Amino acid sequence: MAGKNSVLTFKEAKKKGEKLTMLTAYDYSTAKIMDEAGVNSILVGDSLGNVILGYGDTISVTMEDMIHHGAAVARGAKNALVVVDMPFMSYQTSVYDALVNAGRLMKEARAGAVKLEGGARVCPQIREITAAGIPVVAHLGLTPQSVNAFGGHKVQGKSLEAAKTLLEDAKRVEEAGAFAVVLEGIPAALASMITAEVSIPTIGIGAGAGCDGQVLVYQDMLGMYSDFTPKFVKKFANVGEVMKEAFQAYIREVSDGTFPTAEQEYSIPEEVLSQLKEEMVK
Ligand code: KIV
Repeated sequence: MAGKNSVLTFKEAKKKGEKLTMLTAYDYSTAKIMDEAGVNSILVGDSLGNVILGYGDTISVTMEDMIHHGAAVARGAKNALVVVDMPFMSYQTSVYDALVNAGRLMKEARAGAVKLEGGARVCPQIREITAAGIPVVAHLGLTPQSVNAFGGHKVQGKSLEAAKTLLEDAKRVEEAGAFAVVLEGIPAALASMITAEVSIPTIGIGAGAGCDGQVLVYQDMLGMYSDFTPKFVKKFANVGEVMKEAFQAYIREVSDGTFPTAEQEYSIPEEVLSQLKEEMVK
């Protein structure tokens, strides 16, 4: 799909049965490459807590972190729809907080949409944010901000009751105004059922091929993050290895004096240099 992506691109894709692509990014250069590659949407995920800041989870990520990285991504993305995550406790506390913080992500980070985690409980927030003209992506299943409540990174929706709740939550977030919903870490068959039951696109991550689109954390799909690799990750390239080899080559060449060469040097006019030498010996 060429051209500027928007909420309408998402709507059309679902109608036509075309798959949507989303990747995370946290900086200008990466966003620019992804945008040029033609991805529909770039998610400035609070996964930056893991892959950029090295926290181990997303709990400590702040609004300032999201604005800082969101603005960098927005500057690099010309055609991709930039979705910025609302960090932990920026929307759970009240509808008012949610509205103020969603507004900050739009004004200060220049997001095209915001994403928040949760189902029925956060529907009042989704309703008010969308009423203010801010597009919202919902996020259900293995929602990382609830990792402490889940007791770890565990696949969600496996019991009858949990599966029914997820199905109901997906309908509720659509009703509240979300234009898309991320389904993370749930059984593929359940994700397919949810996809058939809602008219907004489902974007899967560890939720199987039946979703309307897919999202991956880019460090995972490029083999750049080795702390933890979930089962659902496919490494499309081993950029981590390529980077390590390049760093080692640099260290070697600096150490043995083969970098830099004349090709990487700046010259000075011969007469300036000889005059300088003359003056130095005086
Ligand atoms: O923060 C993030 O990167 C996300 C994706 C895993 C969907 O929310």
